[in-house]
Amino acid sequence: MMTASELRAVQNHRERWGNETSVAFAPARVNLIGEHTDYTGGLVMPMAIGFRTLALLTPRSDNKAVFYSANFEQEAELDLNAIPLESHGEWYDYPAGVAWVLQQDGVALKGFNMTLSGDVPLGAGLSSSASIQVATLLALAGYLGLELPLERVATVCRRAENEYVGAKTGIMDQFVVAGGVENRAMMIDCRAMTYDLLPLPESIRVVICNSMVKHQLAGGEYGDRRDEVETGQAVIAQRRPGVELLRDATLADLEACADQMSEASLKRCRHIITENARVLAARQVLLAGDVVAFGNLMKQAHVSFRDDFGASCDEVDTLVEIANAIDGCLGARITGGGFGGCTVNLVEAGRAEEFVTAVKAGYKAATGIDADCFVCAPSDGALALAKKSLGAE
Ligand code: GLA
Repeated sequence: MMTASELRAVQNHRERWGNETSVAFAPARVNLIGEHTDYTGGLVMPMAIGFRTLALLTPRSDNKAVFYSANFEQEAELDLNAIPLESHGEWYDYPAGVAWVLQQDGVALKGFNMTLSGDVPLGAGLSSSASIQVATLLALAGYLGLELPLERVATVCRRAENEYVGAKTGIMDQFVVAGGVENRAMMIDCRAMTYDLLPLPESIRVVICNSMVKHQLAGGEYGDRRDEVETGQAVIAQRRPGVELLRDATLADLEACADQMSEASLKRCRHIITENARVLAARQVLLAGDVVAFGNLMKQAHVSFRDDFGASCDEVDTLVEIANAIDGCLGARITGGGFGGCTVNLVEAGRAEEFVTAVKAGYKAATGIDADCFVCAPSDGALALAKKSLGAE
């Protein structure tokens, strides 16, 4: 079922450019646990959620790509003969980056007009950028007749983000946005690029609360953290043969190298090593149906993110504290890249609505800010959505 704004985007696209020949939907994601572990080969546990981006494509006869953002009501044009590696800090960097990577990979592009329309909150830590990239790629795949397995979709979109947009992110967002499955959380092993689908018990709901503090991955802070992590990782790799990635390091390895790295690197690496262990524990307790233990791991993950990783902010900490004090909330933590954005909260199913009312009131009283809150369920990723819509034709 299309939303009213999607239907408007379709109508507008047809009036502007004629009927579409290729369509794709890509969701957003929320990460339950496993933060900043992905780019050191670690473990994450996100799920795709109901917000999504729609991409509609109609061929053109010349060798240009024209993108129209229904959200910004802006158009951007790209010469496909040789796409320059040049980002502008604008919304169209995301679709242009995807076209650029395909061209780098030797795919022969042909002219097209594309409309993008989405309801993913921007800068909220819910992966609006991966959602746009994956929707763009799948609409292009339909047009160009490309067969793209999950790993390739995730890799192309991650390269668009890393190399074209210039945000040094890991693979988590693109992977789950493309590969998510309805009613399942997805534990991803970011080194092996394999995953495990985990059902969420009926007794709980996942509630997202937006602190309304915007974060930006291409801004400096995410990259600074990553540099601190990689410097620490390099020290361990040098001193502990066989340990190339933090994924393989233990706290004992870290301790043994502590005198060789900055205090910041030590703390960032400690967060990552303990976070990988928490993700594994979260998988175990989830399979055992122990939602209280899962909530406790989320609480611990927030403390580690705040104190060791140093990537939370006052508003988000306040939002987490308020949530953790509400009856029926099993655990709350920041989600995504950090420095603002959203919290993810595990809440007893019967109390989700009262939780939303209480957390909004508490946050407003403490900060004067109105938080947007969403009760969500794990949704299909873009590849499953594409398969289902083919089946429906
Ligand atoms: C952003 C990045 C991801 C990941 C998270 C933190 O969402 O895109 O690759 O690093 O931050 O877990």
